[in-house]
Amino acid sequence: MKDHYGRTIDYLRVSITDRCNLRCRYCMPHGIEWVPMEEILTLEEITEVCRQASALGIRKIKITGGEPLVRKGCIDLIGMLTSLPGIEQVTLTTNGILLKEYAADLKRQGLHAVNVSLDTLNPDTYTKITGASELSRVLEGIRTMEALHIPLKINVVLQQNVNAGEWKDLVLLAKEHLLDVRFIELMPIGYGKELSPISNSELLEKLTFTFGSLIPEERPHGNGPARYYRIEGFQGSIGFISAIHGKFCNQCNRIRLTATGELKPCLCYGDHISIKKALRTGSPEDVRQLLTQAIYQKPAAHCFETISAVTETNEMSRIGG
Ligand code: GTP
Ligand code: 5AD
Ligand code: SF4
Repeated sequence: MKDHYGRTIDYLRVSITDRCNLRCRYCMPHGIEWVPMEEILTLEEITEVCRQASALGIRKIKITGGEPLVRKGCIDLIGMLTSLPGIEQVTLTTNGILLKEYAADLKRQGLHAVNVSLDTLNPDTYTKITGASELSRVLEGIRTMEALHIPLKINVVLQQNVNAGEWKDLVLLAKEHLLDVRFIELMPIGYGKELSPISNSELLEKLTFTFGSLIPEERPHGNGPARYYRIEGFQGSIGFISAIHGKFCNQCNRIRLTATGELKPCLCYGDHISIKKALRTGSPEDVRQLLTQAIYQKPAAHCFETISAVTETNEMSRIGG
């Protein structure tokens, strides 16, 4: 289905839990008060939203959180979603801590690809960023997915004075392994507003200086806003998600569903449409109508400039990124 600005919306990001086993400084540094389970959509309700979304032209589903793998039933849900008519791809974005444990199940359920958030290869910096000493578990998870040949991307958020100097070690992961490494500009949303970003345009210059020419790639690597480049001799590619210095809203292809059943037309805006009542007491047609409304209400572009503070509606852990 097309939105008000003519953009085709075929990608639904589904946050299945607000809970997480990490405390990343740009996401939920102090933890949050968990939403009671009765307010969270059941796995069947999530599947129903995706079924109705598929009828409207959604073809790709991204499972996010919080940390999706901490939700009981996440694996079953992935199986239910990969079996839905019309759904071509189900992918997962995770912090990787539980990946090793669930890797084989994820493959069995037909997961198409996984993105792992990993901002550093240094154990002390990892603890500083995430509040936990779990780096080795994440690395084992990545190796397990690689061995299972599930397409893999590493999401890196660089911050001044924290991990800014580590970009080169992280880039080299794509030389040594068949995976993409993507640099995400820190967005001034939720707690991200209180931290210091690194511009991707500066980073691209540094990479070009260090590795010689970077060859822009046209081939799609996923369904998101990243721009990819190849480096001679590397197995994987380097991606840049530049929400600030390379605004990509005119190509936006997505809407979001939060764990509590709010449809969010854009990452940035507080506006949302609750779909829970329609799911619990209405008809499939009611659900489709709300999805249509969310797609049609998508704003032209994000509004990061206007966000002044952390609120419940802009915490990344509740939106799923
Ligand atoms: P794939 O490439 O298909 O895996 O999708 P993706 O890159 O959208 O997935 P992922 O969940 O790994 O998101 C990567 C980063 O992009 C996260 O920091 C998200 O917050 C950010 N992101 C995803 N969608 C949007 C969007 O619509 N707008 C903005 N500004 N950022 C987004
Ligand atoms: N800016 C950019 N990326 C963020 N993420 C979480 N918060 C922010 C932010 N403020 C990233 C995580 C994860 C993805 C889902 O979103 O690192 O990789
Ligand atoms: Fe958890 Fe991801 Fe937020 Fe880190 S960024 S606290 S891993 S939801």
